[in-house]
Amino acid sequence: MSDTELSSNHTAFMFMVDGSGHGLRNCPAMFFKIAILLSSLIISLTAADENVGFIYNGFRSENLSLHGIAKFTANGVLKLTNETQRQKGQAFYPNPIYFKTPTNGTVFSFSTTFVFGIQSQNRILSGHGMAFVIAPTLGLPFALPSQYLGLFNDSNNGNASNHLFAVELDSIENKEFNDINDNHVGIDINGLKSEISNSAGYHDNETGLFTSLLLAGGQRMQVWVEYNGEEKQINVTLAPFKSGKPSNPLLSLSRDLSPIFNKIMFVGFSSSTGSLLASHYVLGWSFKMNGQAEKLALSQLPKLPRIGPKPKSKFLTIGLPVIFVSLTLAAVSGVVYVIRRKRKFAEVLEDWELEYGPHRFKYKDLYFATKGFRETELLGSGGFGKVYRGVLPSAKLEIAVKRVSHESRQGIREFVAEIVSIGHMRHRNLVQLLGYCRRKGELLLVYDYMPNGSLDKYIYGQSNVTLNWRQRFSVIKGVALGLLYLHEEWEQVVIHRDVKASNVLLDGEFNGRLGDFGLSRLYDHGSDPQTTHIVGTLGYLAPEQTRTGKATKSSDVFAFGAFLLEVACGRRPIESRAATEDCMILVDWVFGFWSRGEILDARDPKLGTDYVAVELELVLKLGLICSNSVAAARPSLRQVVQYLEKDFPLPELSALGTSGGGLRFVHPDGFDDFVVSYPSSMSISASTSIVDSILSGGR
Ligand SMILES: Nc1ncnc2c1ncn2[C@@H]1O[C@H](COP(=O)(O)OP(=O)(O)O)[C@@H](O)[C@H]1O
Ligand SMILES: *[C@@H]1O[C@H](CO)[C@@H](O)[C@H](O)[C@H]1NC(C)=O
Ligand SMILES: *[C@@H]1O[C@H](CO)[C@@H](O)[C@H](O)[C@H]1NC(C)=O
Ligand SMILES: *[C@@H]1O[C@H](CO)[C@@H](O)[C@H](O)[C@H]1NC(C)=O
Ligand SMILES: *[C@@H]1O[C@H](CO)[C@@H](O)[C@H](O)[C@H]1NC(C)=O
Ligand SMILES: *[C@@H]1O[C@H](CO)[C@@H](O)[C@H](O)[C@H]1NC(C)=O
Ligand SMILES: *[C@@H]1O[C@H](CO)[C@@H](O)[C@H](O)[C@H]1NC(C)=O
Ligand SMILES: *[C@@H]1O[C@H](CO)[C@@H](O)[C@H](O)[C@H]1NC(C)=O
Repeated sequence: MSDTELSSNHTAFMFMVDGSGHGLRNCPAMFFKIAILLSSLIISLTAADENVGFIYNGFRSENLSLHGIAKFTANGVLKLTNETQRQKGQAFYPNPIYFKTPTNGTVFSFSTTFVFGIQSQNRILSGHGMAFVIAPTLGLPFALPSQYLGLFNDSNNGNASNHLFAVELDSIENKEFNDINDNHVGIDINGLKSEISNSAGYHDNETGLFTSLLLAGGQRMQVWVEYNGEEKQINVTLAPFKSGKPSNPLLSLSRDLSPIFNKIMFVGFSSSTGSLLASHYVLGWSFKMNGQAEKLALSQLPKLPRIGPKPKSKFLTIGLPVIFVSLTLAAVSGVVYVIRRKRKFAEVLEDWELEYGPHRFKYKDLYFATKGFRETELLGSGGFGKVYRGVLPSAKLEIAVKRVSHESRQGIREFVAEIVSIGHMRHRNLVQLLGYCRRKGELLLVYDYMPNGSLDKYIYGQSNVTLNWRQRFSVIKGVALGLLYLHEEWEQVVIHRDVKASNVLLDGEFNGRLGDFGLSRLYDHGSDPQTTHIVGTLGYLAPEQTRTGKATKSSDVFAFGAFLLEVACGRRPIESRAATEDCMILVDWVFGFWSRGEILDARDPKLGTDYVAVELELVLKLGLICSNSVAAARPSLRQVVQYLEKDFPLPELSALGTSGGGLRFVHPDGFDDFVVSYPSSMSISASTSIVDSILSGGR
């Protein structure tokens, strides 16, 4: 059959040349010449065929003869089979190859090498495998798709008339063909019972150790098939991709191929699928007759297609989940951050507050102004809460933020209204209230920052700096003016309730400024009448105030009296003396000096001799007058200011006897026990059962 093909081929060639020499037919000499030329051409052609060689580094030129379901993929891979059951695929070099000269029956030496890959859907049971084949025909149309690798059918398998040589890369153990295992390489002649076979693998060049390779492992591998026509020996070598050719072949078979081969044969690959599916690929191929096959350009070869319907890159399998997880984490933490931030900066803002807009601060702003209410920004803590220093970045304004905790919502509305109205007050002897902020259970009051702090620091000598008499007298006058403004000059009467040295703050020029005014109202408003608290500081509380719980203008005057004595004497209104375990009531103490006619000796020793005696006496005496236990006997603040301004002379102390039986000083009843056990400067909020109702303020 192949011989007929050969002759028909030659005939065609002759005819063609004959056709080209058409115009020269009637010249016999010429015709003879051409005949010689032709025969030499034929000889040279045959000689060329003897050394035929080709190389495919990938299959982009697509000039193989394909049979069955074999096809080329877009990236230049020869795909013999796809994942379709019971199919075969074959690919042959399209031209016939002379394996013997026409005059000589021995097969030439040849050498071929190719790179293949088998991808199996089922890692345990792969498809059948594939084969390099040298066949007498272009295509094997009678072969069965199934276990015969697309080479044979069940009637011609093993029949010597097949004239077929194959190197099988078998990935199934088929007992029918005496397969040694399910991963072997074998040399097949005319049938699938291999002449020789070996487990797939290679021998290491140096050590000679055998390393197994898995044919259907989805990896690229290289095969060399070499036949020595003189020694009549076939060597088959297998190696991992790009590792070079091992010097020891995997299979070596001594066999003369001359009786098996026809003169003209076709070379190619064959594979088939049965019920088990696998894809068989050839990626590069080189063949040479009578010589060494040209080396494949391994780096140019295409890659194996990915397994599975969708290519899954590392990005998809690892990157995407990682990205997804981190995005989810980021989103969750973002949400948590936003919620936390919202909670952190949450405020209570009710409709009725909207009119106070300009007086309301954002908690966030105060938080950042005070650096998150950091301890380093803490100015001090008083009876109502901690006070922090801060800077509003927008206005570059220094502020003091007082955090007042309040549990009850009751009365907060009135209180805020009052705070806001207080915010409208402007007086150089009052600490300016700038605004407020309301949070759950907390109220923040924002004041002007007083750089020199509170007066008590200077008087009680925690700091080495003390105030001289001139400064003290001006502070006293300032505080009196501030208090007068609250009592009489503002549109409403405001009772301070907590006049004392620690509530007097000093601004940059050491002006005395009254702070904390109106704050005590928070407790009045916020508490229910059964557990009313007296707010104020022991030693500054007027006797009638401890009885009735009611703060009045004259109870403020009483506290102012204590403040005057405090500033002049440098002593607290009530001091416990450790030595005698007795306590010293400042009013009694000063009164003692007065009755002995030496009132100036009660002065603060830190003043030294640098004082104005008239003013000092005025302040001490006024302090005593304001401390009268009879409320009605105390002067009003307007009078106090007039005395201090020396507009009116101070009434003689003894002359007071007419109204309330002389100057009387009464210790706050029932508080003697407290006095010993509490620091005198401590603010108290003592629950009093005596007080029935103090809900109405001092107005
Ligand atoms: N506006 C202000 N500027 C500077 N310091 C202030 C201001 N307000 C309060 N302070 C400081 O915070 C401390 C505590 O204040 P405060 O709560 O008013 O005390 P108290 O309740 O004892 O009167 C004060 O002693 C003072 O040093
Ligand atoms: C395949 O065909 C192309 C173009 O026809 C040609 O250049 C190439 O040499 C051919 N390859 C082989 C191996 O014959
Ligand atoms: C396999 O190839 C054949 C022929 O090209 C085609 O008809 C069939 O759909 C393919 N099957 C798969 C699973 O790709
Ligand atoms: C065939 O020819 C080759 C050289 O082409 C020679 O080496 C060989 O011995 C010949 N074989 C026979 C059987 O004539
Ligand atoms: C098997 O193949 C041969 C050709 O090699 C053919 O003549 C024969 O008919 C085929 N048998 C079957 C059962 O297909
Ligand atoms: C081999 O095949 C030929 C032709 O196809 C046939 O005549 C012969 O009987 C077969 N031999 C065997 C042993 O099957
Ligand atoms: C086959 O391999 C053996 C051992 O390496 C070597 O001696 C021999 O020349 C090889 N034959 C061919 C045809 O490559
Ligand atoms: C083995 O040795 C041969 C020649 O000795 C060499 O060409 C080849 O690259 C070597 N293979 C490996 C894997 O080192």
